[in-house]
Amino acid sequence: MFKIGVIAGDGVGPEVVREGVETLELVARKCGFQVETVPFDLGGERYLRTGEVLPAAEKEAVRACDAVILGAVGTPKVPPGVLERGLLLDLRFSFRQCINLRPIKLYPGVETPVKNATPEKIDMVVVRENNEDLYVGAGGFTYKGTPEEVAIQTSINTRFGVDRVLRYAFDLARRRGTGRVFPGLSEAEKKAGKIGRVTMVAKTNVLTYAHDLWQRAFDEMAAGYPDIATDYNHVDACCMHMIRVPERYDVIVTTNMFGDIITDLGAVLQGGLGVAGSGNINPDKQFPSMFEPVHGSAPDIAGKGIANPVATCLTVAMMLDHLGQTAAGDLLRKAVAKVLADGKVKTPDLGGKDSTRAVGEAIRQAFSDLS
Ligand code: NAD
Ligand code: IPM
Ligand code: MN
Repeated sequence: MFKIGVIAGDGVGPEVVREGVETLELVARKCGFQVETVPFDLGGERYLRTGEVLPAAEKEAVRACDAVILGAVGTPKVPPGVLERGLLLDLRFSFRQCINLRPIKLYPGVETPVKNATPEKIDMVVVRENNEDLYVGAGGFTYKGTPEEVAIQTSINTRFGVDRVLRYAFDLARRRGTGRVFPGLSEAEKKAGKIGRVTMVAKTNVLTYAHDLWQRAFDEMAAGYPDIATDYNHVDACCMHMIRVPERYDVIVTTNMFGDIITDLGAVLQGGLGVAGSGNINPDKQFPSMFEPVHGSAPDIAGKGIANPVATCLTVAMMLDHLGQTAAGDLLRKAVAKVLADGKVKTPDLGGKDSTRAVGEAIRQAFSDLS
């Protein structure tokens, strides 16, 4: 029995989470395991009603779950940061979800605005550091509201935290290269016995303290993985290469802030935010991991029933992997791939006219047909 916390949140969050949860329940029935979902009334509505963001008792109840599904938080009715910091980042930090795993994969049948992008070329994973950097919230104001105002927000980078995310990235590249050697390797790299590649993305030419630490840690970690090729890109150049030559990327490892930015760009490569899933992983499994689509609450389309639930369903598949139900996760990805390849049922972001509900139902139908 898996106990799954559900934080539907704001905007399109509840609309896409409903599809994710119904799909999860079907997968569990078909694959022979049990899930119990525990809904949490957290997000903008709750805050506006009671002034509470994440009360201690509810945080403890989240801690008791095996994993969490989160839709999105943030609404124009609440000042920026209250929910993002107070709820989402608090959970990511408190439960040491130090890895933000964001696959970028173009499924056949999905249109991407990037000319020449094909499914063969776009299959990478961004491993985003998730507990440090500018996101720690270290800083403050002096003389706030006066002409002499000073605002400081510091990027925190610890050797422990950097090593932890680098190790995860190298291990992931090794797992991905086992059974299918990364096709983007050069002949020389293949001859040298490499099976995958980790590209570090940072800004060593400007952030000469923080990213000097990253570079030294990266080089030392790489020495322990002779079967993995390495590369380095400055983050600005990475944005260009991701569009021009996405096939060069296998695993990208990067900082919290840069990872946030390049994964929205990566979402576009794979057909938009409507299809991009992610996981906030606590690798030690000491605390629950939390799975959420890359997108936010999409206030511009909230309430219309047209948000794409594909990102959330792929997110559920990542959660199944994490819970050790990889066969179920693979089957769910297959079902999603079938719906995308058929192209008969799709939401407006993918050029269709169908509803969130209709796409969710099509995924469940495809899953039932496969299982
Ligand atoms: P957003 O991701 O909510 O929306 C960006 C664009 O993508 C919008 O045009 C939206 O309609 C579209 N889009 C997003 N998800 C979609 C889906 N499933 N199907 C179809 N189209 C989709 O980003 P934003 O507008 O910058 O942020 C809105 C709010 O969400 C803010 O409060 C922000 O802080 C918050 N946010 C939360 C999370 C999270 O909870 N994980 C992530 C990102 C942003
Ligand atoms: C994301 C979001 C969050 C982030 C915000 C809402 C805190 O943009 O999950 O990508 O910056 O990590
Ligand atoms: Mn983001």
